[in-house]
Amino acid sequence: MKMEEIIRAEGLKKYFPVEQSFLERIRGGNLFVRAVDGVSLTINKGETFALVGESGSGKTTMGKLMLKLLDPTDGRILFNNQDITFLKGERLRRMRKYMQMIYQDPYASLNPRMKIIDIISEPLIEHEICDGDEARRQAKGMLERIGLIPSENFANKYPHQLSGGQRQRIAIARAMILKPSFVVADEPVSMIDVSLRISILELLENFRKELNTAMMFITHDISVASIIAKRMGVMYLGKLVELGLLEDIVNTPAHPYTIALLSSIPSIKTKIKGIKIKGEIPDPKNPPSGCRFHPRCPFATEKCRVEEPPLIDLGKGHFSACHYAPEIMQKARNGFFA
Ligand SMILES: Nc1ncnc2c1ncn2[C@@H]1O[C@H](COP(=O)(O)OP(=O)(O)OP(=O)(O)O)[C@@H](O)[C@H]1O
Ligand SMILES: [Mg+2]
Repeated sequence: MKMEEIIRAEGLKKYFPVEQSFLERIRGGNLFVRAVDGVSLTINKGETFALVGESGSGKTTMGKLMLKLLDPTDGRILFNNQDITFLKGERLRRMRKYMQMIYQDPYASLNPRMKIIDIISEPLIEHEICDGDEARRQAKGMLERIGLIPSENFANKYPHQLSGGQRQRIAIARAMILKPSFVVADEPVSMIDVSLRISILELLENFRKELNTAMMFITHDISVASIIAKRMGVMYLGKLVELGLLEDIVNTPAHPYTIALLSSIPSIKTKIKGIKIKGEIPDPKNPPSGCRFHPRCPFATEKCRVEEPPLIDLGKGHFSACHYAPEIMQKARNGFFA
């Protein structure tokens, strides 16, 4: 069956200007953090796509760009084959109901001065989907659906009166009440007590399946990605370094950075014996030349230092931005690294 795309990013870039003193500016020109630096990817209708990478790799920025919560420095976004890159005003507002974001911190993302029932029903009213009575009726149904029962006990409470897990359930209900066709869930369980994480992921997944919502699930943890997604992208310093089916990437990773990520997670079933990466993640204001991963890569050569690797097509939708992707894959197939 041919997959139909819901959203596509083409060469997306986001450069944030860095605050500098007058002297710094005349010395060094304008400095930018290249948070997202030319990322292209497609997400299909109803699929869950995981976006994985270390802190600072640009995952949240990428999510916000795709939802038009940030304007890109360059590149295009197509939603349902419509170019939404420059959509503004009323047309953008109308588009928003199909695209939602679930944030990492439900305390920061919910209005502290609003009652729970209003938080959940507000999007329906804002997008003129129904009147206030009907919106509150649906929100009550949502409260029951997310396990805040009896709903009367929760409807008139404020976010601070609930637990972190309950707050995140509310953030999910608020996003899903609009029946969106695409959501970005940004580390939605990383601030939640470990014992509650699975039940919240299940709640999200049940909504998603029922509504056939496509999701970009952002996480720094491949083991969480492997529970929830079939396909994934790996980001490093603003670049997509590997893309493909999760199963293929876990079995035969084709980028040294992915291998390092995989080998840091004991619960992942991979026959790869780990490689250790050197040093810290470099400064995104001044990324390394050539392949951005080269200073930390045990396989780096002179070519990696000078030449930026393109995403190489390895078949079956598997791509890697490593000059030596086929060799790395072969090493992975053999199951060990020297
Ligand atoms: N509004 C901003 N202004 C300036 N720099 C920013 C801004 N937002 C993000 N950045 C920088 O862009 C880079 C990517 O940030 P981003 O938050 O997208 O990373 P992330 O992968 O989501 O990280 P984390 O896992 O910590 O959430 C970082 O270097 C960050 O400091
Ligand atoms: Mg983030």
